[in-house]
Amino acid sequence: MENLKGKTAFITGGASGIGLGIAKACAKAGMNVVIADMRQSALDEALSIFRQNGWPAIAVRLNVTDRAAYKEAADKAEEAFGKIHVLVNNAGIGCAGGPLWEVSHKDTDLALSVNLVGVLNGIQEIVPRIIKHGEGGHIVSTASKAALLPVPGCGLYNVTKAAVVGIMESLAMDLVGTNIGASAFCPGGYITNLGMSSFEVTAELSGEKPVMPPPPPPPKEDGEPMPMMEEWSTLLRSPDDAGERVVRGIQRGDLYILTHAEFKDGVKARADAILRAFPDEVPNKRYGEVFPYLTYNDIFDKQTQVPALGK
Ligand SMILES: NC(=O)c1ccc[n+]([C@@H]2O[C@H](COP(=O)([O-])OP(=O)(O)OC[C@H]3O[C@@H](n4cnc5c(N)ncnc54)[C@H](O)[C@@H]3O)[C@@H](O)[C@H]2O)c1
Repeated sequence: MENLKGKTAFITGGASGIGLGIAKACAKAGMNVVIADMRQSALDEALSIFRQNGWPAIAVRLNVTDRAAYKEAADKAEEAFGKIHVLVNNAGIGCAGGPLWEVSHKDTDLALSVNLVGVLNGIQEIVPRIIKHGEGGHIVSTASKAALLPVPGCGLYNVTKAAVVGIMESLAMDLVGTNIGASAFCPGGYITNLGMSSFEVTAELSGEKPVMPPPPPPPKEDGEPMPMMEEWSTLLRSPDDAGERVVRGIQRGDLYILTHAEFKDGVKARADAILRAFPDEVPNKRYGEVFPYLTYNDIFDKQTQVPALGK
């Protein structure tokens, strides 16, 4: 979807971090923006940035797990801007860590409902509206680098994010023949409010008092920050970078929007392991002729090499 000017983007988790970075990049590309988020204070702050810049936007309080509220939010977006063209399913929470067998049922249900069902809710509510107006559009869902190269100790998060990639690959197939594209966004590390917002959202959805995360380690006696913390802050990226990459991915029609070339070797090792696991036998050509839709899928052919930002 090359020309974004005058089109409308609906962005969940759009009031903070990566979602806000995407919202700002969409506004800079000339789009109307619907910032949908669960946290009212973050919505107020985000909207003020849009007002200061004169960017057209509305803020809508939405919990993506609430299907009736999702319909109301989409109706409000259409009342404000007429049509929705781009949906960014970005709302997400950090999940309980530890081995999968130790994660509680409650944490499992919560993680799946926000990170996975929330994405499906967005697709089911908004894609029919985009199909109906016929002007074309694009759906992006924020998964994570953890979907392609799982993070040790974060099994539940890895699971939810791998599922998001599966959703977007399936959606891309479903949308073949339409003028609507689909992207799985798999960011590496960004400086955001994920730790704090996950506590707040988890507390509200589970009806329990938030247990505050432990404070960061104290500064050294000479007042210098811990060397590791200092280095982290130089390695993590700004959400504005994520926004630019997502907008470019929408314009290019990329199936995968990736960041951080540092993860390439790890992802390659995973892909190679999968290929090595096929039995060393000659494939039966007839199988591919009888079941071509099972042996090959040309949605993958559309993903081409992505230049560095700014090239
Ligand atoms: N920060 C990173 O390094 C990183 C890396 C990979 C993937 N991600 C993913 O990026 C997405 C955005 O997270 P972020 O890091 O920008 O954190 P963030 O806390 O800055 O933003 C997340 C926003 O989502 C909102 N949200 C959470 N649950 C919601 C719900 N049920 N309904 C509506 N809004 C809800 C929060 O209120 C918050 O404003 C998440 O899906 C996260 O898993 C983040």
